[in-house]
Amino acid sequence: MSEEALDGTGVAGDVLAESTSEASLQRTVARSREIEAGIARDPSGYRVLTGDRPTGFLHIGHYFGSLANRVRLQNAGVDTLVLIADYQVITDRDGVGPIKERVMAITADYLAAGIDPARSIVFTHSAVPALNQLVLPFLSLVTDAELRRNPTVKAESDATGGRPMSGLLLTYPVHQAADILFCKANVVPVGKDQLPHLEQTRVIARRFDERYGRADPKRPVFPQADALLSDRAVMILGLDGTKMSKSRGNVIELGMDADTTARLIKKAVTDADRHIAYDPQNRPAVSNLVNLAALSLGREPDDVAAEVGDAGAGALKRLVTEAVNERFRSHRARRAELLADPAYLHGVLADGNARANAIADATLAEARAAMQMVY
Ligand code: TRP
Repeated sequence: MSEEALDGTGVAGDVLAESTSEASLQRTVARSREIEAGIARDPSGYRVLTGDRPTGFLHIGHYFGSLANRVRLQNAGVDTLVLIADYQVITDRDGVGPIKERVMAITADYLAAGIDPARSIVFTHSAVPALNQLVLPFLSLVTDAELRRNPTVKAESDATGGRPMSGLLLTYPVHQAADILFCKANVVPVGKDQLPHLEQTRVIARRFDERYGRADPKRPVFPQADALLSDRAVMILGLDGTKMSKSRGNVIELGMDADTTARLIKKAVTDADRHIAYDPQNRPAVSNLVNLAALSLGREPDDVAAEVGDAGAGALKRLVTEAVNERFRSHRARRAELLADPAYLHGVLADGNARANAIADATLAEARAAMQMVY
């Protein structure tokens, strides 16, 4: 067995810090392009897993940032699993909140957006015991120092305003590794902020095979999963030009109606320059609106900005409102239909959970066999 430092001073921490460096980011982007090309040639060797934490309702940032991409991968023929990470809700809050309502709404949004439950598996990880059991051996492969250095754990912990960190928050990267590895996903579409988790997942997969594996390096129990970053990072801000956040009231949820959308966009922050241009660096609020219209219309931001030109922010807002409402008209109608049929949505989740359980049971059996824990 190769003795990788597990004392919190060696390789592991460097690996995590490394995953956020500029050079490493460039490698991830290049690797993402290779994966996209590979999928276009033959999707059969790929399995995608992505997920959302059901802490609220999905908004158009989720749609353009990830949901549309999942639907695209599914439709390209990639085996796709979509996780509703319900246990992750309680990493940094006291209660579960209106969890059932949120899970149902998220499921409705997935289906309305085009996730096809006949092809893709939609599941909640709390309903998959074998997935969660993998967390135990995985926890033996990481140190507390390594977890404390994880940039995402740090950021989450800072965001809780000095509140003591729960054991679940500290270890959630390990839980997330189990989400990815239980189904042996090799492609995980994520934003930049999740890259340390992917690195941690690869480290856990490698260490599992070094320590407990079946002694045949050509047949590891767990694969090395790659992040799939989109080429043109879709960074959507809230309507006030700052980070999207429900408490700031700056998000357009997928379930909002046309009038509410119009009202929110009318109040959106712009700037004093009447000429509309796409300049995200210097004019984030205006550029964000331009980007929203461009994404909704399937056009380039520069092209949309040029069309508005000197007509000013009012004209831009009218364009954005119409584009967003048109783009999500059928999504909203389908979402409402689905929510009116909770028995159907429950059926989709029950079926997804059953399929996820079959996969998790098989993987856990392999892991326990490798660990010689079969009695
Ligand atoms: N942490 C992710 C988020 O907050 C959700 C998530 C949980 C996830 N498990 C995952 C994403 C596994 C990708 C893979 O959005």
